[in-house]
Amino acid sequence: MDKLKYALIGAGGNAEKKHIHGYKNLDDVEVVAICDVEATKASAMAKRHQVANVYTDYRDMIEREQPDLVSVVTPNFLHAEITEYALSRGVHVHCEKPLSIHADEARRILQARERSGKQVMIGLNNRFTNEAVYLKKWIDEGHLGDIYSAKAGWIRRAGIPGRGTWFTDKDRSGGGVLIDLGAHYLDLALYLMGLPDVHYVAGRIHQNFVHTTTRNRNGYTGIAGGLFNVEDAASGYLGLEGGSSLALDFSWASNIEEDRFYVELMGTRGGASLVNGVLKLFGEQDGICLDLTPKLKLNPNLQLVNEFRHFVDNIRHGGHTLIAPAEDGVYFAQIVDAFYESAASGMPVILQAPQSVTLTR
Ligand SMILES: NC(=O)c1ccc[n+]([C@@H]2O[C@H](COP(=O)([O-])OP(=O)(O)OC[C@H]3O[C@@H](n4cnc5c(N)ncnc54)[C@H](O)[C@@H]3O)[C@@H](O)[C@H]2O)c1
Repeated sequence: MDKLKYALIGAGGNAEKKHIHGYKNLDDVEVVAICDVEATKASAMAKRHQVANVYTDYRDMIEREQPDLVSVVTPNFLHAEITEYALSRGVHVHCEKPLSIHADEARRILQARERSGKQVMIGLNNRFTNEAVYLKKWIDEGHLGDIYSAKAGWIRRAGIPGRGTWFTDKDRSGGGVLIDLGAHYLDLALYLMGLPDVHYVAGRIHQNFVHTTTRNRNGYTGIAGGLFNVEDAASGYLGLEGGSSLALDFSWASNIEEDRFYVELMGTRGGASLVNGVLKLFGEQDGICLDLTPKLKLNPNLQLVNEFRHFVDNIRHGGHTLIAPAEDGVYFAQIVDAFYESAASGMPVILQAPQSVTLTR
């Protein structure tokens, strides 16, 4: 079988931790080139991973190497530009989350994808964990019934990803903790709920740790006095179709006992919680409340779905069964846009005509 030619765009932290290993480990993929605007970063990564070619301009790289697929692992504001370009050259794209910093850009990506006939997958690795895959199947089998209430969050005590980096610059990140960590756990909650229609979004944002130097994430040093014009905390509420709702709470820094990342779902037949990577399922059998704890970590080699294999298989077989397709990036970006609009105005933002709800007596 011919190997797919793969190239990496953006040789920073996430590319090193995730993408380069993910694709290097596939025996039907050849990593042909790495691109970073900082030549030293691209060269160092290429050396570490025995990749032959290094570029500082992604257009140049795509023209010369003619890859079948690329990963886009750059700061958020470049995702749309690079993804659109790659698609226009007939290249499949594995784009990091968030797909874009605004919904209009995400819609442009969808149009570019339609024109190209190529595939775009978002790097939503939290949808690919064993716990998420197992829980999604559990929900799809009906064990939760109708999910009427959800909570999602990722709260850190000291987790600012470096003051003065692109993360804390609104023009380059699109926002603070909501677009950064919300792109994982708010996305995951909505994905598990079946991406329900969002009727309204009420959001609040805060900047309580902008002037501290003590709340940086381990390993993220930042630049003293650097630009920090995004929120370090975001909380809010989504009114969803069918009268259901989702409460969210995200912070890069906060005065809490310990970090917590979670999705909690309450349904008419059952419930589920995924807290700090541990999945629990709640229900009732024969009149007795019953809890289940799937032991998904017992086998360290268990991987129900591999994000990279999944994308390559979809590319090879022309499949349209992506777990994280570009459409979901449009859905998420609409929520993020509405959230920041709500936070700025102090009022909920209506996305769709709300439904009236009546209770029976
Ligand atoms: N899925 C996850 O769990 C996860 C984790 C961390 C980051 N991310 C995402 O990955 C992306 C990158 O984050 P990071 O933490 O690796 O940031 P980073 O700053 O460590 O790396 C970004 C890299 O992109 C390079 N770059 C900037 N402009 C470029 C251009 N025009 N062409 C090529 N390279 C360019 C930078 O020089 C830098 O090396 C972000 O979108 C972020 O949201 C995802």
